[in-house]
Amino acid sequence: MKEIDISALQMNPMTLIAKEWMLLTAGCESRGYNTMTASWGHLGAIWGQGGGLPTSVCYVRPQRYTKEFMDREELYTLCFFPEEYKKALGYLGSHSGRDEDKVAKVGLTPVFGEGYTYFAEAKLVLVCRKLYQAPLVPEGFVDKSIIDQCYPGGDFHDMYIGQILKVLTK
Ligand SMILES: Cc1cc2nc3c(=O)[nH]c(=O)nc-3n(C[C@H](O)[C@H](O)[C@H](O)COP(=O)(O)O)c2cc1C
Repeated sequence: MKEIDISALQMNPMTLIAKEWMLLTAGCESRGYNTMTASWGHLGAIWGQGGGLPTSVCYVRPQRYTKEFMDREELYTLCFFPEEYKKALGYLGSHSGRDEDKVAKVGLTPVFGEGYTYFAEAKLVLVCRKLYQAPLVPEGFVDKSIIDQCYPGGDFHDMYIGQILKVLTK
């Protein structure tokens, strides 16, 4: 994969995240890593000078094994894949790394960077540095119907805002 400047990135974040899905991966070779499928998130800018830092936002429920890695690590990656990997992403989004080596099961190839992990089969990788983490709280919902729809079990997501440090493409 080659590194490109973020200004050269051409994509529609709405379809890229929500429709194509992504793998959220935290951890590295020495400390271990875990990955999960995510389809809720945002790409944009906040803080910093000159229009804000390029940032991603992800949402992780407390019961995900990946959350333990997200909480421990400073870096994480968002990986996007060609259509033929959709089935693999479905599997990684319905099985836990607590129970099995699900990455080996779907045949993806981890690539280890310094403090982060991504997958060789990805078409696009965003390497992110955690800047902000906070749980979504019931008091914050202006539209309370979302609580009943999305959180009947009270398992509110933690929100992670990460600075996009590197963009890798094929
Ligand atoms: C299409 C899709 C999108 C998902 N999006 C999210 C998400 O944005 N946040 C989240 O916490 N879980 C999401 N999940 C669920 C996790 O991927 C799933 O629970 C996974 O098995 C967690 O794995 P882990 O326990 O190894 O971390 C999604 C699952 C699928 C199939």
